Amino acid sequence: MTKTESGKRTIYSAPGKIYLCGEHAVVYNEPAIACAIDLRATAKVRSLCEKRYVIKSSMGVSKRLKSKKHIYAAKCIEKLKKYIPKGVEIEIESEIPVGSGLGSSAATVIATLAALNDHFKIGYSLEEIAKIGHKIEKEVQRGLASPTDTFASTTGGVVFVPEMKTIELPEIYVAIGNTGKFSSTKKMVSSVKNLKNEYAEIVNRILESAGNISREVEKLIKREDYQKIGKLMNINQGLLDSLGVGTEELSKLIWVSRKSGAWGAKITGAGGGGCMIAITEKRGLMKIAKAIEKAGGESITTKTTNDGVKKQSKIL
Ligand code: PMV
Repeated sequence: MTKTESGKRTIYSAPGKIYLCGEHAVVYNEPAIACAIDLRATAKVRSLCEKRYVIKSSMGVSKRLKSKKHIYAAKCIEKLKKYIPKGVEIEIESEIPVGSGLGSSAATVIATLAALNDHFKIGYSLEEIAKIGHKIEKEVQRGLASPTDTFASTTGGVVFVPEMKTIELPEIYVAIGNTGKFSSTKKMVSSVKNLKNEYAEIVNRILESAGNISREVEKLIKREDYQKIGKLMNINQGLLDSLGVGTEELSKLIWVSRKSGAWGAKITGAGGGGCMIAITEKRGLMKIAKAIEKAGGESITTKTTNDGVKKQSKIL
């Protein structure tokens, strides 16, 4: 330990999420359903004896809160600065691909806020942490962030939007296909808005149908009927395609997943790049992952989780 550090480290991790259904429609007050997944971001916090703020990750080291490199973690420090006696060092690690519809920024924010909250004995409840996290996402993304990601990352489990009601869920196995193309949620939301302005009647019906899918999936989740959920995810994908948020790469990965036995496959999140998801039984997972790789995507296999933000004894 150097002279400028004090000993104790506090480590928290928080999960990413997938949208089972209802993304984009949720922007227009239709229901959506998201699930936390077993890919996590971890934040390790320790006090510094000098008034310095240091953020480290695989992207490098930032020593100024204005630095663009770690904009989310820097915002977390900014929001809680008044509770930090001197300085702080935050180390971030993440298993969640960035900018791909898996809620990587929300998981980083929630893990960082929870670690700071515990380390400096601030006393915020989980509900308050989720709210501050959403505020940070909105500030960084200039107003465009639904509370879904930060909420799912805090609570784990399945989240019904807009009620923000969470239920626990038996594990669903998920194959993720990453196109490797960065997607901008802001750009995709505004392209759907333009289409809706141009063809209001038609697009409104599409968004309503997506909302109806979420209503149906809610019932099926309670019955644990994943095959039927998969069928409705496929219908939802058709609607997302008709809203213009699909891409050739996403379609390719979705189709090879279906052909390899997935119960259902669709985009997760904003689309226009980023990731697709396929749900399946456990023993079918590797076959789908291999097909995704063969079709040019990066595959990640995971499952849904009921573990929200939690304290860790070591970095993952
Ligand atoms: O790509 P993501 O995970 O940021 O999800 C965007 C989902 C939208 O419904 C398109 C927008 C939102 O904020 O809900």
